[in-house]
Amino acid sequence: MTQVPNNTFFDDTLALARDPYRFISKQCERHGSDVFQTRLLLQKVICVRGDEAARVFYDTSRFSRVGVAPSRIAKTLFGRGGVQGMDGKAHCHRKMMFMSLLTEDKIGGLTQLARDIWNRRVLQWSSMDRVTLYRHAQEVLTETVCRWAGVPLEPADVDRRTSELAALFDYAGSIGPKHWWARLARKRNEAWLRGIVEKIRAGTYQPPEDTAAFIVANHRDLDGNLLDAQIAAVELNNILRPTVAVSAYIVQCAHALHEHREIREQLRDGSPDDFQCFVQEVRRYYPFFPFAGAKVKESFEWQGYRFPSGRKVLLDLYGTNHDPRLWDEPESFRPSRFRDWNGNPFTLIPQGGGDHYQNHRCPGEWIAIEQMKVATEAFVNGCEYEVPAQNLRIDMDRLPAIPNDHFIIESVRVINESK
Ligand code: HEM
Repeated sequence: MTQVPNNTFFDDTLALARDPYRFISKQCERHGSDVFQTRLLLQKVICVRGDEAARVFYDTSRFSRVGVAPSRIAKTLFGRGGVQGMDGKAHCHRKMMFMSLLTEDKIGGLTQLARDIWNRRVLQWSSMDRVTLYRHAQEVLTETVCRWAGVPLEPADVDRRTSELAALFDYAGSIGPKHWWARLARKRNEAWLRGIVEKIRAGTYQPPEDTAAFIVANHRDLDGNLLDAQIAAVELNNILRPTVAVSAYIVQCAHALHEHREIREQLRDGSPDDFQCFVQEVRRYYPFFPFAGAKVKESFEWQGYRFPSGRKVLLDLYGTNHDPRLWDEPESFRPSRFRDWNGNPFTLIPQGGGDHYQNHRCPGEWIAIEQMKVATEAFVNGCEYEVPAQNLRIDMDRLPAIPNDHFIIESVRVINESK
């Protein structure tokens, strides 16, 4: 058995923080290996990249998620007691709850709702001087997902709830005041959602039975018990928060349309397949989550390397989406590559890989894809706009990475109100 190549630096925490999306790939290239070991926050960690590594990483007999999320991420992005930190049968059972919400039918309802709300919003933009797309997309998504999920939201509260939900993913990786704001936002958001769960259980609020709020409030664990109301709030947040996070992908769609005018023109008369290829390429090309983490259950050997029990492992999501062995000219933005894509579940992994039901792959992929398509349709066929001079460089130090000025548009004209 060969030793996993080791980084010579004592600890790479700062190097990773400086270049979160490219750190693992760069080190893999330096070592000439898809596997290397380093220390992060003084702890030994093995980093891996590529489709074969993803296949192993999503083998739940080899990896555990219990207690893996760093405390600062648990207190902001994930919350405590949610599906992300579960293993085995309990995980599969909880995951089924999410998957039952994400049927074609239910996602179709969400998509129609989003279309209506985007149309209204675009109309509103036509009377505004300037629009910062990132924030507006967050508000649209907050309104859309709350209504779909059966979570009551007064128009006067959209601003406040949007800010709370956005803080959870925008500031999860921050330090200082932003991190503390994200922690406060989680407390407020969970208190709000816990209140809704309690009212549903008490029968004082009755959302339709096929909504996320109803299903989560009435979900029972493997022993037949209702979830603790606090954990039910974390799971309801696990639907709202990431849906609002699709705003980053939506801004990336607008960025890609701006950078590639010819693709924008093609999409004007585009088929559903053209839109699918476009959003898949946005998900592959643009950075979102840099990596996913797990820990080794029992020691095992892979490609001649030993993975000792308890060792943390990071899978390079961004690096795998940009792996030149898997993607021809990965640094070119080329939606047409998805026309004849074979659908390998371990090569395109911005939201994790493998099987949605059996492991930790994101259950929200279809929501993300459909919401991106609705927004792209609104940008391409619903309105025309100018993109004024601004800093459009994708800020690769930011998680999720979006253009520095959050994509500002102006002179919006509605071109098809009835769509
Ligand atoms: C903004 C776009 C999104 C991105 C980039 C994203 C990315 C991810 C990633 C990387 C994971 C972890 C995979 C792993 O641990 O190996 C994940 C898990 C998860 N995502 Fe998403 N996601 C997005 C949207 C959504 C949406 C719309 C939902 C709403 C249902 C959602 C709900 C979840 C949940 C509940 C998990 C935990 C699954 C589990 O542990 O079994 N995500 N997502």
